[in-house]
Amino acid sequence: MSCFSVTGGKKLSGEVTIQGAKNSVLPILAATLLCRGQCILENCPRLRDVEASIRILQSMGCLARWQEDALVVDTAQMSEPVIPDELMREMRSSAIFLGAMLARCGEAELSYPGGCELGPRPIDLHINGLRQLGADIEENGGRLRCCSSHLTGCDIVLSIPSVGATENLMLAACGAEGTTRIFNAAREPEIVELQAFLQLCGGEISGAGSDCVVIRGGKQLHGCTHRIRADRIVTATYLCGCAAAGGEIFLRGTREADLAAVVTVLRDTGCRIQSGTDGLSCQRNGRLRAVSPVRTAPYPGFPTDAQSVLMAALLCAEGTTVFEENIFENRYRHVAELRRMGGDIHVLGRVAVVNGVSRLHGAGVESTDLRGGAALCVAGLAAEGCTQVGGIHHICRGYANLPGDLQALGADIIWQHE
Ligand code: EPU
Repeated sequence: MSCFSVTGGKKLSGEVTIQGAKNSVLPILAATLLCRGQCILENCPRLRDVEASIRILQSMGCLARWQEDALVVDTAQMSEPVIPDELMREMRSSAIFLGAMLARCGEAELSYPGGCELGPRPIDLHINGLRQLGADIEENGGRLRCCSSHLTGCDIVLSIPSVGATENLMLAACGAEGTTRIFNAAREPEIVELQAFLQLCGGEISGAGSDCVVIRGGKQLHGCTHRIRADRIVTATYLCGCAAAGGEIFLRGTREADLAAVVTVLRDTGCRIQSGTDGLSCQRNGRLRAVSPVRTAPYPGFPTDAQSVLMAALLCAEGTTVFEENIFENRYRHVAELRRMGGDIHVLGRVAVVNGVSRLHGAGVESTDLRGGAALCVAGLAAEGCTQVGGIHHICRGYANLPGDLQALGADIIWQHE
């Protein structure tokens, strides 16, 4: 089986350019369904989840091709608004296509996303909101059939600020007549970027980044050229890598503003992080310090996606750090693997208590999900000896080249092919 083989104990040094953001590009790929004309997405990361979205677009008759680091998408020839079951299974977040398909075609068919490695993945908020816009949605044998001859703008209040529901409803509302206001909307940078893309295509939309997004629908959108912003979670991963291994690194193309909560915690651990015009530098000398409880929360709170990599960095910190995971039910699956490397972690429900140890040792470990897998690599950078991280298909869903990037930062890591 292929794995990433990390030999720890080496300080990091060097620089790398941060890839485009997975969670920005996925809803934007769905949004291309709303555009007449070619969309060019520059700095598009080549990831398993992006390839899965391309296959979904192609299965509906759309064209998508790579042109160096840009993905060129033309949805003019879109035929049937149906996503086959096997493509839905490849990527649970493909429900994001629903709103765009409805806006474009007035109908959509796809399977219910079901659960994933992070626990149940309900889309009730997406569905309720779409119903409020006038969609008729039926579930039968795990398939969702949606139709609407006429979507009409309205006020929608989300009970929780769901990222996916906000995005889905923004896309559907572009095809609805009149004004839609989404209250208690998610405020993540990916929502702001989706709005920027839609505006470039001629959409009338405002408010993203606040808790109320306003969409004036019914306008025909055109193509555009948009550059995908740097991935804030990949940035957080490499910052945590430096925190774990020590040394000094520079991450090009990324900005502190998108991950202020993570940077604040890392500074509290003793890392020296500085923002420049074109990136972030991080320096760590001496032992890390434990920090006050880290509670994951919707943006601008501490991101759930960075919980595992921060935990990995703090395994050898002086003192005890408490984590509280408030977004997903099943997001401590990396803990058992980190323990195999010598981590002292106790989990009770949504709380994990990490007692800093003086050393970690390499081990054979298995990625259980995308960010959990990245955390094992971060821990491997700090461990004595060799850590072999299996299940790397999870990691490749979201990191375009994790071993290559870490090598550029001076780490001893190789991709061992079977
Ligand atoms: N939820 C519901 N009902 C819904 C929608 C969500 O109960 O209709 C619940 C979820 O079960 C979860 C919480 O609300 O407990 C938050 O879910 P949200 O909808 O905000 O998350 P998402 O859109 O499914 C995106 C990212 C995740 C990231 C979360 C939180 C994408 C493709 N995925 O998921 O990213 O963790 O927001 O920030 O944007 C990752 O990249 O590894 C990843 C999992």
